[in-house]
Amino acid sequence: MPTGTDAELERVLATGELTPVGRLADSSNGALLCCVEDGADGVLVIHKPEVSERRLWDYPDGTLVARERAAYLVSSAGGFDVVPPTVLRDGPHGRGSVQLWVGPVEGEPEPLVDVTAVSDVPEGWVVVLSGETPDGMPVVVSHAPHPALRTVAVLDAVLNNSDRKGGHLLRDGDRVRGCDHGVSLSVEPKLRTVLWGWAGEPVPEEDLARVERLRRSLGDGLDDDLHELLTVPEVEALHARVEALLRTRRHPLPTPGWPAIPWPAL
Ligand SMILES: Nc1ncnc2c1ncn2[C@@H]1O[C@H](COP(=O)(O)OP(=O)(O)O)[C@@H](O)[C@H]1O
Ligand SMILES: [Mg+2]
Repeated sequence: MPTGTDAELERVLATGELTPVGRLADSSNGALLCCVEDGADGVLVIHKPEVSERRLWDYPDGTLVARERAAYLVSSAGGFDVVPPTVLRDGPHGRGSVQLWVGPVEGEPEPLVDVTAVSDVPEGWVVVLSGETPDGMPVVVSHAPHPALRTVAVLDAVLNNSDRKGGHLLRDGDRVRGCDHGVSLSVEPKLRTVLWGWAGEPVPEEDLARVERLRRSLGDGLDDDLHELLTVPEVEALHARVEALLRTRRHPLPTPGWPAIPWPAL
């Protein structure tokens, strides 16, 4: 990732000249890979125009790009540093989100989540689902025990993320970044993730400290910024999830009656 504080990067993303360089083939929301130029420097970004959002039954129309920005504000305020700098601005197709592009890392990156035969699960990894391929071969979904992934799992509980699949986890040095938070921050419990390896376990102190920091930020101006992006009940539900995490001090369990794991998982 390019260097600079998040505030500097946000300024570049919000004010630099935005030029599309390609379309992301696997995007269901018409996402474009773009270059943002600020003076001599250019950075790669992913831009999702609001008009290209796919309609969903469980999120109000035209709200996904605002959720991308809200997820960044929450991640940043708590010091999770999972969501890359993300702003809302005008582009060639009107308003949309612009998020700093992460990576790719050099060489063949070690996977963080995988679908393999049971016998091929790497040592120490946590199996979260058993299933079978269309031709009947048994497979399991597992993820690495990486502490940075655990921080992502805590942030996802806070965000009520309903689409944390392997392809939305990006290596960035020792850190793990996450992308695609357009379907998060609903009022209804919808946590759907591959990162169930710590379900029910105590949240580590350093991640609890992040949730506490987020709680302080909410009372210190973040709330006002979020009200520009989310409905009042959605902001209240975020508060309630923060309070619940600080009360139980444990990773949440899957919600009964709700599909807990996204499919495909990668
Ligand atoms: N900030 C980012 N940095 C690097 N890769 C990204 C970033 N955001 C998205 N991607 C890649 O682009 C793909 C499509 O983006 P995604 O946010 O999932 O779009 P959609 O809303 O269509 O699901 C992701 O699966 C991921 O591989
Ligand atoms: Mg996606």
